[in-house]
Amino acid sequence: MNIEADYLIIGSGVAGLFFALKAARHGSVAIVTKRERRESNTQYAQGGIAAVIDASDSVASHVEDTLAAGDGLCDRAIAEAVVAEGPEVVRELLAIGAQFNEVSPGVLSLMREGGHSHARVVHADDMTGREVTRALVRAVEALPNVTLYDHHLAVDLIVDVEGRCRGARVLDVQDGQLIEALAPVTLLATGGCGQVFLHTTNPRVASGDGVAMAWRAGANVGNMEFTQFHPTMLYDPGGPSFLVSEALRGFGAVLVNDRAGAFIDSLKTRDKVSRAIVSQMQESGAEWVYLDATIKDADETRRRFPNIYQHCLGAGVDMTKQPIPVVPAAHYMCGGVCTDEHGQTNIAGLYAAGEVAMSGFQGANRLASNSLLEGLVFARRAAGHARIEAPVGKGAKPTAGGKGVVEAAELAERRQALREMMWNEVGIVRSDQSLQLASAEAGRMAKEIEILYDGMALDAELVQLRNLATVAELIAGSARMRLESRGGHYNSDHPERDDANWQRPTLLVGHPEAH
Ligand code: FAD
Ligand code: SIN
Repeated sequence: MNIEADYLIIGSGVAGLFFALKAARHGSVAIVTKRERRESNTQYAQGGIAAVIDASDSVASHVEDTLAAGDGLCDRAIAEAVVAEGPEVVRELLAIGAQFNEVSPGVLSLMREGGHSHARVVHADDMTGREVTRALVRAVEALPNVTLYDHHLAVDLIVDVEGRCRGARVLDVQDGQLIEALAPVTLLATGGCGQVFLHTTNPRVASGDGVAMAWRAGANVGNMEFTQFHPTMLYDPGGPSFLVSEALRGFGAVLVNDRAGAFIDSLKTRDKVSRAIVSQMQESGAEWVYLDATIKDADETRRRFPNIYQHCLGAGVDMTKQPIPVVPAAHYMCGGVCTDEHGQTNIAGLYAAGEVAMSGFQGANRLASNSLLEGLVFARRAAGHARIEAPVGKGAKPTAGGKGVVEAAELAERRQALREMMWNEVGIVRSDQSLQLASAEAGRMAKEIEILYDGMALDAELVQLRNLATVAELIAGSARMRLESRGGHYNSDHPERDDANWQRPTLLVGHPEAH
């Protein structure tokens, strides 16, 4: 059965759910989400939401920290607007029942993280995302004009002959039916693409679908070379990927090598810390470094980081007694679908908010805990701007999909090969040669997958593999173009920042007929 609504939202993380809450005041809302509604990057966010709450803090200071982390590529006007709206969106979350830690009744507890010159991170223990998701899902479920469709995977956007987005083709993953979800306004809120790299803090849903769909539909995409690598994922081969929050470093834990020596200021921005860890590992031959929290009071550590404490204990590490082995991993996509100050893309009727978007807020490297903030602010802005002006029209019939079936093992193999290639060639330290190779390999893999896709019956895994390959091409291609090092992009053949030539976003202009 097809879906029709005034607003179609693709994705149920912080951006999608907050947009739903706002848009429901103006019309009917359909949210399609490819797994269970709570499964998203948002759900796993630990540290919190950066916002100017404390009286001794200021918008100017948060803006300066954001711009410094962004390494010359943030849009100042956007940064000022987003930061200024931070306290208000936090209040809106409180109003729908989100429970954050307090130091006394009504006074929020604020943590400090890397790159921040103030303690300004609002949090719910070390499980902020889970609490934000709980509150938002509950609020959205209570609205009569919002319908949530779990296990509905958007496959491609529907763009009519006038170039207006009319919704999306969606695969009902449980019964295998391809349907049309039609709406005059579509919001892409599909999150990031961590899964394109072998090592990532992101869950499996983060396969870059939104960027890939938007690119195929003709949207402009920018800054895809700027992958943020988080310095401290738990080193636990064979275990699930698990982040050890930067808030632990804000709390006083320090990074040390296997001789217990500090090698970097643990609160520097993530790009610098990740590179310092890589060079430590290369020097010593070790496969990890340590994050040492044993210097802190054990009871306080357990009280403030219950989730991390329990998870590490399960992996055999008592963080109050032993340093935690950690490694860097792909964490956040700083680039994405280009949007204006309202979250609007270059395709009429199509908005994007959250990690999928390149709004100008994050620049070349995101400041810690600025992502939930961006998702909230842009969801609200987009909902305030989007007008249900065009009648719903029918989209073209799906073009892809033959009858064949690809073996699951083959899909898994191709996925693994792509992720390994991206990690090895487009990882924390890149070079001209590795990027040339990656560009060619990503192109070759994407072509093969496209041929497979065209001949096969629609399959959720294949759809996502196709998107991963598209995103890999965009990342490798953008990284190859940028002949300097900045933020999350480090090329050892061009190790310096080059403002004269590169103080600008890398823009890939969308032409639907070309891809
Ligand atoms: P997501 O929360 O990722 O949601 C995307 C949604 O889209 C999901 O529901 C997904 O299933 C759905 N989806 C994707 N593709 C499709 C498709 N084709 N069809 C249908 N549905 C689709 N940021 C902070 O600011 N503070 C933190 O403390 C913090 N900690 C983090 C910890 C971890 C472990 C991770 C991984 C990230 C963390 N981040 C943090 C980053 C932050 O969580 C994300 O950037 C942010 O939550 C993204 O929100 P979003 O709504 O844009 O996307
Ligand atoms: C963390 O808690 O370290 C993650 C915070 C973020 O990604 O902003």
